[in-house]
Amino acid sequence: MSGHVYVTRLLVDDAMATLAELGPPLVTGREEPPTAEEMRRDVAGAVAVVSTLTDRVDAALLDAAGPSLRVVANVAVGYDNVDVAAAAERGVVVTNTPGVLDAATADLTMGLVLAAARRIAEGDRFLRTGTPWIWGPRMMTGLDVSAGATLGVVGYGRIGRAVARRARAFDMRVLATPTRTPLGPDDGPVEFRELPELFAESDVVTLHCPLTPGTHHLVDDASLARMKPTALLVNTARGPVVDTDALVRALQEGRLGGAALDVFEGEPRVDPRLLALEQVVLTPHLGSAADRTRSAMCALAVRNVAEVLAGRPALTPV
Ligand code: GLV
Repeated sequence: MSGHVYVTRLLVDDAMATLAELGPPLVTGREEPPTAEEMRRDVAGAVAVVSTLTDRVDAALLDAAGPSLRVVANVAVGYDNVDVAAAAERGVVVTNTPGVLDAATADLTMGLVLAAARRIAEGDRFLRTGTPWIWGPRMMTGLDVSAGATLGVVGYGRIGRAVARRARAFDMRVLATPTRTPLGPDDGPVEFRELPELFAESDVVTLHCPLTPGTHHLVDDASLARMKPTALLVNTARGPVVDTDALVRALQEGRLGGAALDVFEGEPRVDPRLLALEQVVLTPHLGSAADRTRSAMCALAVRNVAEVLAGRPALTPV
């Protein structure tokens, strides 16, 4: 096959239908990720690739596609799985899906903040053990979120700001890392702090930066050492932003209050040491996993493909 659109994984029905109407034939993967070998086979001669964050789109895959390839449309706002420089060298446009998943990701983040602070998952697990219990004044107390707890937002972009808006509704005080993007009317009040101060002052630190060489292991032994021993870390960004070994050490030694993690180093593997810690809440990369959000992400990726194949600029190039 050549001149086709290669969709690495089954998207939502509407997006699959729109893709089928675009014109070029479709080569479609399954619901599960393709193997590297299947990807190389199915990409050969493609004009467009619709990829997901589980697909590694590197120089080798771009070469396997060949010179016909014009666009890689990643169904995610993050694009650390795509070698953007290698794509640019080959004249291939890379697009992502910004904007449409801010609310869903912020909702999940706020859920994780509350779950970690108020020990919701731990309480649920406890009841399921069938252990006899009765209300007690000292039983399973956690962090008072709405008593002015301080939220430190690392990465005050679209998602970070959406989280901050929700946190303010819970009477949290919001700190954030400095940003060059001007603040909109709903983006404050916020106090900007450099990372070391943000780690030190926050009761909850939440990560909303992209994964880049500069943010890899941004949360390491040194940053964890700055955090309050009662503080919570929430990660709905990318797993490798956190050094898992350092996080596990801090939690095991009682130097950190807890963590809520939606993303993992070496995903989909979850470090068994995290599974063993009661003060850790875990979700399987659900940040954007809401029905309308997923439809919007798929639709945006498909529109990007359509625009580029029609010779027009992509809507959301990275
Ligand atoms: C999800 O993690 C995304 O980047 O969209």
